[in-house]
Amino acid sequence: MTKNLFIKTYGCQMNVYDSDRMADILKPLGYRTVDAPADADMVILNTCHIREKAAEKVFSELGRLRQMREHRREAGADMVIGVAGCVAQAEGEEIVRRAPYVDIVFGPQSYHRLPEMVARASRAAGKTVLETDFDVVEKFDVLPAPSADAGPAAFLTVQEGCDKFCTFCVVPYTRGAEYSRPAGDILAEARGMAANGVVEITLLGQNVNAYHGEGPDGRDWTLGRLIRELAEVPGLARLRYTTSHPLEMTGDLIAAHGEVPQLMPYLHLPVQAGADRVLTAMNRRHDRDTYFRIIDRLRDTRPDLALSGDFIVGFPGETDEDFEQTMDLVRRVGYAQAYSFKYSPRPGTPAAAAAAQVPEAAKAERLQRLQELLNAQQLAFNQATAGRTLDVLLERTGRRDGQLVGRSPYMQAVHVDAPGHRLGRIAPVIIEAGKANSLSGRLAADPARDAA
Ligand code: 5AD
Ligand code: SF4
Repeated sequence: MTKNLFIKTYGCQMNVYDSDRMADILKPLGYRTVDAPADADMVILNTCHIREKAAEKVFSELGRLRQMREHRREAGADMVIGVAGCVAQAEGEEIVRRAPYVDIVFGPQSYHRLPEMVARASRAAGKTVLETDFDVVEKFDVLPAPSADAGPAAFLTVQEGCDKFCTFCVVPYTRGAEYSRPAGDILAEARGMAANGVVEITLLGQNVNAYHGEGPDGRDWTLGRLIRELAEVPGLARLRYTTSHPLEMTGDLIAAHGEVPQLMPYLHLPVQAGADRVLTAMNRRHDRDTYFRIIDRLRDTRPDLALSGDFIVGFPGETDEDFEQTMDLVRRVGYAQAYSFKYSPRPGTPAAAAAAQVPEAAKAERLQRLQELLNAQQLAFNQATAGRTLDVLLERTGRRDGQLVGRSPYMQAVHVDAPGHRLGRIAPVIIEAGKANSLSGRLAADPARDAA
């Protein structure tokens, strides 16, 4: 009997990967995914704890689900409600206390036990099943191979957790210590994905460039080595990785950007702030000059590398001058795109306890100024691609009839009129216009590929 599963995913790409794997592990139990919670037999909220109010959002969503379940029960059906992810990990007990009607609460390192938890929940008669162990090794051993319908661009988690302990961040507490999957398992997963039509893989990890996994030769493999080996997998035309820490940009990884054609010229390398004293208070363990030197080396190796970053404004103790250093850093580097956030005190992290919290109004003003600058840089970057011919991986149908949407090597979304049979393929596109958030263009004649 098939049952409907609805997973709502919050937060980062690692959660997107985890949600897909939850669907994979529930498939043998008869669950297929649907797009809305109302007619779901099971709803899982895969939550994020990185910034504030995440938990409150989860509780209000749970309230809505509880009502939906009442309606279903009146109609003779039922609904299993689960909370997964980092809020579950950090506030599992609180969820059980405040929302005892939730059936299962489980963290990011225990979702491989979902089938067993579902069975326990059905026996538990209204008592919440809570699983927040850190079983990351076992998890990857137990998970089934990713399903075949991933589309042409897919994620592959190679590393989890973080030992960096930036003073603002909950990740080391919710995801646990750094762990790297064995390289042989990753290569096997990648080969399986490529055989299912995946053309582009983004390697994921909270600290992906800190990857140190055991290779099939018994040696320690770095991310650079892993990328070089993945480039040999037939069918994989594109590789990316995210998220990286500046301190882990080793010579070998930087060199890969110049030597591996499959490695796309786009790098998300968060710096968070531009002032040395803020970087120190954040425990980032490098100064601004070190960051500039890394960027210079990357650009020497791959001159067209597009850079992305994360920024936090209003970290405790950040002065106006400190913030100006962030603005200066952004002007000097020049980003193709970036994410920026107001500092949000996270329970249990050192910075949350700092006395010198920055007033909300100052945070808001700084964020607005930073975002104006980043948006202007992004627009300029997109406009500068007009007139060029870029290889675009056509990933999905667009809103308009006959339109497909894909990604350029630089991660830009590209809209192009193209026949449906081009989906899942890489096509050369003449870029006609660069806008704030996307490009538009037309297919270039490509005799070699058109004949194929
Ligand atoms: N407040 C604001 N932003 C945060 N981030 C992580 N923790 C916090 C916090 N407490 C941001 C960082 C990180 C991104 C994923 O989220 O910029 O790189
Ligand atoms: Fe969080 Fe810092 Fe680790 Fe990134 S490196 S996950 S910001 S603690």
